[in-house]
Amino acid sequence: MRVLFASSEIFPYAKSGGLSDISAAFMKSLAGDVELFGVMPMYSFVEKRGMKKERSFQFTFTSTTHEVEIYSKTKGSLQYYFIQSPIITSRENMYGDAEGDYEDNAFRFALFSAAIVALAKELKVDILHLNDWHTALAPLFLKEQKSEIKTVFTIHNLAYQGIFEAENLARIGIDEKKYFHPECLEFYKRANFLKAGIALGDAITTVSPSYANEIRSEQYGFGLEGFLEHHKEKLVGILNGIDTEEFNPAKDKALALRYDSNKLEVKHQNKKEFLRQHGLKDPRKPLFVMVSRLVEQKGVELLLETLPQLLEMRINLFILGEGVLEYEKRFEAMAQEYENFTFQRAYDEKLSRQVYSAADFLLMPSLFEPCGLNQFIAMRYGAVPLVHNVGGLHDSVHEDDSLGCGSGFVFDNFCAEEFLACIERALAAKKQSKKFKEMVQKNMDCDFSFTSSAKEYLRLYESLL
Ligand code: ADP
Ligand code: GLC
Repeated sequence: MRVLFASSEIFPYAKSGGLSDISAAFMKSLAGDVELFGVMPMYSFVEKRGMKKERSFQFTFTSTTHEVEIYSKTKGSLQYYFIQSPIITSRENMYGDAEGDYEDNAFRFALFSAAIVALAKELKVDILHLNDWHTALAPLFLKEQKSEIKTVFTIHNLAYQGIFEAENLARIGIDEKKYFHPECLEFYKRANFLKAGIALGDAITTVSPSYANEIRSEQYGFGLEGFLEHHKEKLVGILNGIDTEEFNPAKDKALALRYDSNKLEVKHQNKKEFLRQHGLKDPRKPLFVMVSRLVEQKGVELLLETLPQLLEMRINLFILGEGVLEYEKRFEAMAQEYENFTFQRAYDEKLSRQVYSAADFLLMPSLFEPCGLNQFIAMRYGAVPLVHNVGGLHDSVHEDDSLGCGSGFVFDNFCAEEFLACIERALAAKKQSKKFKEMVQKNMDCDFSFTSSAKEYLRLYESLL
């Protein structure tokens, strides 16, 4: 079976969040079972060393002809393709800058989707696996070209749908009569790319079983709950995992000292050094951390609301993240005020690993969470997650340790009282040092890899052929 996996970000070439990690883990895990190719846009910052120019295509969208060049790179047994075109490549970042999203994103990612389809046909793949709205027009282009290639469309986060003014469709050359209606692209008079992926994909997946249920409700559906309910026969939730070779505290080069579950004293040394470097005192205090995009989804408002009470407790807090300017400013102000809180406004891959390795607890009070990867990384590095009982967090972290792998602390209702009570329970548990150590060790030895999920995707592919 030949499969082309298309994503707007694949680690290490481009990363803004979990989509990148999961795309890389996906490529690695499935490579042995199918003939697998990956494709992503050639952003301006992608390192071109070792790449080969393969071929070029021309796409005429209305009156303008766009040149698209396809580059390839082989990494071990993996084959990657990169789509280069001035409209994609000339932008500095992936999706936008301080001013907001790029205004030509509809066009940039429509072109990317058209190029994916051309490549899929040329590679003669059986399955085209698409991810999120950036690739969601591909099933429409395949249909227009009467292709037999089957599509799997994965939704990583329903909060991002790719909604644009309808005028864009004519520019992209999409037949509005055929596709601009409520059963496909139309969404309150605007064009919603994600809807095309859902309507026209042969199978739809999302990244945890709980999220697959939640998105069919008004609370989590972002206006698409009815549409998803209509397509529920082809919707399935498959839990993400992580690349356990990439995220391995015993081998991680970002760490000064490496360790495994039998050498937890080394983790403690990392913690001491980390606190010293980041201006925090007293290593006996439990260290809570957060590594996150600072957006509403991640529960930042709840954290800000409870921060004064939290920082009066006998803890240290370290937050690594960037995002909404107002959140950043408020964290900066609080960090000035409290000596047990450090805020690092950055996106820093290396530092993130040092943070996980130093931490006792990871805070993940997400308002909603399709899957979440931080909790897996944290557990692998011996930090116990404290999570809101929602989406993929519900499926991967349990306070009741009889429920198998993934021990942590969980609060049900998204409110200050329950969040703070959950932190109190975590602190009480930490005092029982022998039991706590066993919990940490058990988490570190759990299998959070993508291997079993990859098998589920494989079965799904087979069911489509
Ligand atoms: P999302 O994709 O919604 O942001 P995930 O939990 O799926 O959330 O994945 C987040 C990934 O991004 C994790 O690998 C996490 O460690 C990483 N990450 C988030 N913020 C930062 C940051 N400021 N610096 C480094 N890594 C970060
Ligand atoms: C999205 C979600 C996150 C998920 C990731 C990878 O960014 O917000 O929960 O883990 O995609 O699927």
